[in-house]
Amino acid sequence: MDIISFATGNTNPETFPVDAFAEAAQRVMRTMAVDLNTYPGKLGHPGLRELMAQRERDREGVEVDPEHVVITHGSMQAVTMGVQAQCTGTDDLIVLEEYTYVGSIRAFEDMGIEMVGVPLDGEGMRIDALAETLERLKGEGRSPRCIYTLATYQNPTGAVMSEARRMELIALARRHDIPVVEDNCYGDVHYDGDKPRAFYALDDDPRQVYLGSLSKIFAPGVRLGYIVAKPPMLERILARRHDAGPNTLASAITHEYLKDRLWDHIEMANDGLKVKRDAMVSGLRRHLGNECRISNPPGGLFIWVKLPDDVDPGRLIEVGNEHGVDVAHGSSFHIHNNAGPYVRLAFGYPTVAEIEGGTQRLGEALRRVRGSAA
Ligand SMILES: Cc1ncc(COP(=O)(O)O)c(C=O)c1O
Repeated sequence: MDIISFATGNTNPETFPVDAFAEAAQRVMRTMAVDLNTYPGKLGHPGLRELMAQRERDREGVEVDPEHVVITHGSMQAVTMGVQAQCTGTDDLIVLEEYTYVGSIRAFEDMGIEMVGVPLDGEGMRIDALAETLERLKGEGRSPRCIYTLATYQNPTGAVMSEARRMELIALARRHDIPVVEDNCYGDVHYDGDKPRAFYALDDDPRQVYLGSLSKIFAPGVRLGYIVAKPPMLERILARRHDAGPNTLASAITHEYLKDRLWDHIEMANDGLKVKRDAMVSGLRRHLGNECRISNPPGGLFIWVKLPDDVDPGRLIEVGNEHGVDVAHGSSFHIHNNAGPYVRLAFGYPTVAEIEGGTQRLGEALRRVRGSAA
């Protein structure tokens, strides 16, 4: 049986602009002999930097200097460079949501950075818990190098931190003199609800780092992301760049395609994704029953499902695979891999028919594993 996979945060191939992207590639290719025969430099493609600065200005309503935008190999490289620039290499510790992006967890582990997790609620990182954590660390004589947060369409929970809570987080960060690194990988993958402003638009701490991506509003295969940071933090970040810059070919074609239609493209992609989100939420509600808590995220690519107490998520995944459906284990998003009653489902890539079929298969698997954690 073919497996319907809801395990990975891929985007929607149905709205990928094959012809227009091919035309953009045709247009730029003949002009690129010099650019392709030279290294791109640490900041990356000037046109794409200007376009991403414009994207940020349009969304946040504040000036963003393209000279403060660094194009990276996906936002994953931005996570690594942005957080490493806050660290010293000894006794590094960061504070972050206790459930977060698995790639970041693995990168922080590899960099030898200690992670201290803060629990989440429907609005993301809990401020009472953050305040307690920072006080406790202070009592131990330890100062986090940064607060790394996914405040908008949090991966995996889908939570959005309100602007009021962002202001509370900023106040706490200031009191403890800790910079914020905001990973806004899903920024603009928006379906409904408020769009709270980014931390850099609310706070002028010059040590702040902001990370964006083209993976989720365009396509992960182009491997393009970016960092926004001001000097001297910008220089600290660039000092950690040893790859001679990002991919010129991908940058130039993506820029050529998006330059006159950025927001039209985003709207078109979001329209397609919203249909899939709705299909998955309604499929899960229908097939999993009301003993599961099913998120209905206002943006991003994931549904976070809390399973009934008597269900072991690992067993559900095994039996789900037998029924031809795959989902991600919630514990893989926990910074210490703690077992919790959660699974995450990604809805961007599968078709609506697959979403309907896959959620039904998951419902069948769930009925078979009731009692597995009793
Ligand atoms: C929160 C978050 N940050 C960063 C990334 C890295 O994405 P990319 O390198 O494709 O931009 C992801 C990917 O899923 C993510 O979920």
